[in-house]
Amino acid sequence: MSHRIRLPDVSETLTSMPTSGPLVDTFGRIHTNLRISVTDRCNLRCTYCMPEDVVFLPRQELLTYEEITRFVRLLVPLGVTKLRLTGGEPLVRRDLDKLIAQLRQIPGIRDLSLTTNGILLAEQAECLYHAGLRRINISLDTLRPDVFRHLTRREGLERVLEGIRVARRLGFHPIKINAVSIRGVTEDEVIPLAQFAREHGLELRFIEYMPIGAGHWERSKVYFAEEILQQLQRTFGPLRPVLEGDGTTPAQEWEYPDGGRVGIIASVSRPFCHRCNRLRLTADGKLRYCLFALEETDIKSLLRGGASDDEIVLAVRQCVWAKWEGHQINTARFIKPTRTMHTIGG
Ligand code: GTP
Ligand code: 5AD
Ligand code: SF4
Repeated sequence: MSHRIRLPDVSETLTSMPTSGPLVDTFGRIHTNLRISVTDRCNLRCTYCMPEDVVFLPRQELLTYEEITRFVRLLVPLGVTKLRLTGGEPLVRRDLDKLIAQLRQIPGIRDLSLTTNGILLAEQAECLYHAGLRRINISLDTLRPDVFRHLTRREGLERVLEGIRVARRLGFHPIKINAVSIRGVTEDEVIPLAQFAREHGLELRFIEYMPIGAGHWERSKVYFAEEILQQLQRTFGPLRPVLEGDGTTPAQEWEYPDGGRVGIIASVSRPFCHRCNRLRLTADGKLRYCLFALEETDIKSLLRGGASDDEIVLAVRQCVWAKWEGHQINTARFIKPTRTMHTIGG
């Protein structure tokens, strides 16, 4: 396929793919982080993510909690230690707390977190906390009801804010806020969101708008990391880059002169593919080695077709081994995946 920078050739795949040890790809990246989409459904209709008249998967196509748990149990001995539950909107899937409790019990899982739009958070936060969840990322692009309505095609800003309040009160930590950054749409949200996050002890991250949603993406619509940074510096003074960390999280963190931090996920202007440690399992059981992957491994068919544990593990290793060097957003070779964001989970 021409979109890849380098394809492992077939003989290499057959002879040198490790059949034990960590989940390594042909570029030496070790995969320890699995993002699990539990549903493609959502109670919002963000324009950058999905079309208004979206058709969701029939329920029987979704992996059951037992299937998800079996899969995770197989990946832990291969070095996966970090899980994130995503959607669509994960909180629209019934009894999510049961899945959280099940996953929490798997020895070797060191970090379990959730990415939510916050609409159902106020009513479910306590239950999630009791199931053992401590870490939440909440999507919030604006503090203005009219902009929220325009972006999500729904009402709900107050409910998200209430969800954040409840999560804080219960002691979730950290609470990260994800704000997609789109030129001409969210530029005016940068400073209010930064102030809000500073006041409420939230870890805000701006995310460059990526070509993976439903809307027509073009480069000129991306409000770039550098511009966000300059805007923040005009209001708050010079920001200092934070260098610590294991280098595998997508956000570059910046420190305000008077303390506190803000993050920017510069997926378009500063791709971080070279240190990617992520795999994604879609709600219908397809394993993806990249957010932008054009091919997937059908785990559901294996799970439902009586495959042995060894066969599933081999399929995962092959998926990782086939991983490309990175997305090609900044080149003419880029091909937009047909899956939209709500069927992958960010
Ligand atoms: P933590 O750092 O563990 O809190 O998680 P996270 O930031 O990866 O999780 P979250 O779901 O909040 O991700 C924020 C956004 O970053 C995602 O929705 C994507 O838009 C973007 N992102 C996350 N992982 C990747 C990745 O592997 N590649 C790219 N291009 N973007 C990513
Ligand atoms: N570009 C960047 N981020 C996106 N998200 C959804 N679609 C896009 C896009 N096209 C973000 C959401 C949420 C996370 C799951 O993905 O805002 O924070
Ligand atoms: Fe729903 Fe998230 Fe997509 Fe918005 S971005 S429509 S909240 S899945």
